[in-house]
Amino acid sequence: MATGKSTVGAMVAETTGRPFIDLDQAVEAETGSTVESLFASQGEAKFRSLERACLTRILDEAAGSKQAPVIAVGGGALIARDLRLRALDECVVVTLEGSPTELTRRALAQGARPLLSGPNPEQRVTELLALRATSYAEAQARISCEAPLASVAENARAVWERDEVAVAAGEASYGVQVGSDFAAARIGALVAHSPVCVLVSDRTVAALHAPRIEAALAAAGTRVVRVDFEPGEAHKNIASVESVWRTALAGSADRKATFVALGGGVVTDMTGFAASTYMRGVRWIGIPTTLLAMVDASVGGKTGVDLESAKNAVGAFWQPSAVLCDVRHLSTEPVRGFVSALAEVVKTALIGDPEMFALLESEAERVGRRDLDLTAELVRRSVRVKARIVSFDERESGLRAVLNLGHTVGHALEAQAGYTALSHGEAVSLGLVAALRLGEALGRTPRDLSERTLELLRRLGLPASLLGQPLTDAANLIGHDKKRAGSSVRFVFARGLGDVETLPIPLSELRTRVLALAE
Ligand SMILES: NC(=O)c1ccc[n+]([C@@H]2O[C@H](COP(=O)([O-])OP(=O)(O)OC[C@H]3O[C@@H](n4cnc5c(N)ncnc54)[C@H](O)[C@@H]3O)[C@@H](O)[C@H]2O)c1
Ligand SMILES: [Zn+2]
Repeated sequence: MATGKSTVGAMVAETTGRPFIDLDQAVEAETGSTVESLFASQGEAKFRSLERACLTRILDEAAGSKQAPVIAVGGGALIARDLRLRALDECVVVTLEGSPTELTRRALAQGARPLLSGPNPEQRVTELLALRATSYAEAQARISCEAPLASVAENARAVWERDEVAVAAGEASYGVQVGSDFAAARIGALVAHSPVCVLVSDRTVAALHAPRIEAALAAAGTRVVRVDFEPGEAHKNIASVESVWRTALAGSADRKATFVALGGGVVTDMTGFAASTYMRGVRWIGIPTTLLAMVDASVGGKTGVDLESAKNAVGAFWQPSAVLCDVRHLSTEPVRGFVSALAEVVKTALIGDPEMFALLESEAERVGRRDLDLTAELVRRSVRVKARIVSFDERESGLRAVLNLGHTVGHALEAQAGYTALSHGEAVSLGLVAALRLGEALGRTPRDLSERTLELLRRLGLPASLLGQPLTDAANLIGHDKKRAGSSVRFVFARGLGDVETLPIPLSELRTRVLALAE
């Protein structure tokens, strides 16, 4: 309240050539009474439900329009998490922030404010802000309103232009930025408050892409210390993490340091884990350079290392403060890794983005050529779907399980081949085929969905035939992973595009059915 949101919103609408809607005014127009009198006569709960209905309708209309509006909403409108997550998914949400003293001064100067009608308004503002801090932190950006309105509007417009995908994780929320050739230009602003940056990469990636990032960090006035690992999963271990800790310490990195991970999923997983533990936790930023690290590892906050043969056996949830997916970096990624990651993109389309599925079908050849705009679109869409799922379910309680589509059999095939013959993505491609075929056998998956997906996987260059795959051995490995509950496996079935379900299947039945797929 009293942040100047209506004026700022109108200014942003003006400069972006969009219509402007003030939610309070829309509620007033609809009910024929003022916000103050609605509060007084019907109470806050009733006002919130009117506000919610009104905002829901505005969002419904905006979803189908070419010129979606700029909407100014009151500080209570996005407190309900379901509505906030919807707004984060469909809009760019900017929180305008100010100190309690300044906000109280402004609010009182503007007259009646229903929420402040107590003996100590400033204390009330302080309490409200504390109560709502987590909700406000989940916005794409928080910007100070204690500046001239024109510059506040300019800052808000810049956030809108960046169009980050919001990963809502309470106070640890962050944005994933997707674009082409922008990481070096953007990274400086993100480390402005860090006297030291620890830039972590692997030797292959470092030789190709580190100089520009390092120069940009140095130009931002931060001192850069570097760690470059030997590339590959074999080096994803605690010894590598220790070398990050030691380099950081030798470089006098303190709690204000930022770790920057430049590389594939191995580098981002290890850097995130090193950051989670160094000085009990420092900031880190991901600059993923493989398609897999962009579409999968950039969301979810999972960090860690392998221990002996146990993948990701040691780790922590530790969110990055930002992720920069610069698709230019993918131009040098080896073909096999890029194509493998497309299996996760197809999986994601099946789970939650029918439009992306259609895009992949119509543009399969251009996908393989790594057209920059198209690749950016696929990364953005994949990140959005995963962010949406993970935001609803931060700690893997249930909903997140849908992300395992294709992974139950996929993991088994990958493990059976000793993690060498098949890449993870290739195994997932075969796992998707298995999940679709099993779904057909159990009457859950329509045949034409299987056929369409198989055809798409083939056209993208992924393996899509189970014939000749070691299903007998793989079947025995199913359920040997940590996600098994009792003697049942929660199996993910595809019912349609953007429509998946998880069902418990007894392990013995699942093994029998997988064996039957070989025929
Ligand atoms: N945290 C998560 O949620 C999550 C999700 C998926 C995967 N992962 C992890 O990610 C890892 C796999 O990631 P990956 O496939 O990116 O492997 P990777 O990091 O090993 O990279 C693969 C290879 O490509 C090279 N490379 C990377 N980017 C390049 C570029 N732009 N140009 C040229 N070469 C480049 C690397 O040097 C490496 O040799 C696994 O350890 C997996 O556990 C984590
Ligand atoms: Zn996967």
